[in-house]
Amino acid sequence: MKIDFEETTNDLLKRIDIHSQYGAKDIDTWMLDVLQLKPGLNILDIGCGAGKQCFSFFHHLKGDVRITGTDVSESLLSQARLENEKVGNAVDFRQLDFNLPFDLPSDNYDLISACFAIYYAQDIPFTLAEMHRVLKVGGRLFTTGPMPDNKQVFYDIVREATGKPIPPMPGSSRYASQIYGTMQQLFSNTEQHIFENPLTFTSVEPFMVYTRASMSEDRRLWNSLFETHEEFETVMAQIEKVATERISHDGQLVMTKVVGGFIATK
Ligand SMILES: C[S@@+](CC[C@H](N)C(=O)[O-])C[C@H]1O[C@@H](n2cnc3c(N)ncnc32)[C@H](O)[C@@H]1O
Repeated sequence: MKIDFEETTNDLLKRIDIHSQYGAKDIDTWMLDVLQLKPGLNILDIGCGAGKQCFSFFHHLKGDVRITGTDVSESLLSQARLENEKVGNAVDFRQLDFNLPFDLPSDNYDLISACFAIYYAQDIPFTLAEMHRVLKVGGRLFTTGPMPDNKQVFYDIVREATGKPIPPMPGSSRYASQIYGTMQQLFSNTEQHIFENPLTFTSVEPFMVYTRASMSEDRRLWNSLFETHEEFETVMAQIEKVATERISHDGQLVMTKVVGGFIATK
C-alpha cells in the first residue's frame, strides 16, 4: 500500500509544541514508565523525526546508552542534528527508509522504537520483519500510534464544518487491521498499553495552529476535503467557525488524544 504522506519539519514541531502547552500529560513520561529502560542499552529509533524520543531516552538514562536515530527525511534529520549538538552529538542520526532493506546488522539492538511512524510503511510485514531481524533475541520493539477513538472532537468538528466524511487515517485503521496482528505473528510476546491525554483549548487560536499543522497541504491524506491552497483556506475558515462556536458555548474545547503503545519481544 502506498501511503501518500510527507511530514514537514514545521508541522511536526508545531504539533509537538501544542501537545506540550495544552496537554494534561506528557507522553514521553508515559513511554519511559512503560518501557522501564536499563542503562547500557543499544537503541534504534526508526522514523525518529526531529529526535524527540532519542533525546528522551538519552536524558532518562543520563547518557549511559547507545542511540541510533533514523528517518527518511533529511530535513527532520538536520533538525535532530542541531539539537544533538547540545548533547555533544551523542546520538548517531542517519538516513533510513523503512520501505527498503535496513542497512544494519542482524541481532544487534536491545530496543527499537518507532513512534507515530510505522503506519506509513508501504508493506507492514516487510518493515516489521526488518525490525525483528535487527533486534537481539529478547530485544523489544516499541511502537505507538493513534487508536480508533483518538481525538474524536477534532474529527467531529471537521465533519460538521465540511459536511464531508473523514478519510481513513492510516494510523488507527492499520493498527487494527494489520500492525498488531503481524507483530503477534513475528514476535514471541506482545502487549498493549493505552495513553490518554486531554488537550484543553480555551481559545480557538492554538486549536487552529494544531489543525493547520495536522491537515496542511503537505498532508495529502486529506485531499478529499481540499486540493488547492484556496480550498485548504476555505476548510480552515469553516473549521474555525465551528470550533469558535463550541468554545463560546462550552467555555473550552477538550480534544483527547488516545494513543496505543505496543511492546513486542523477540
Ligand atoms: C509523525 S512523525 C513522528 C516523528 C517522531 N517519532 C516523533 O514522534 O516526534 C512520522 C515520521 O515518520 C517518518 N517516515 C515516514 N516515512 C518514512 C520512511 N519510509 N522511512 C523512514 N521514516 C519515515 C517521517 O519522516 C516522520 O519523521
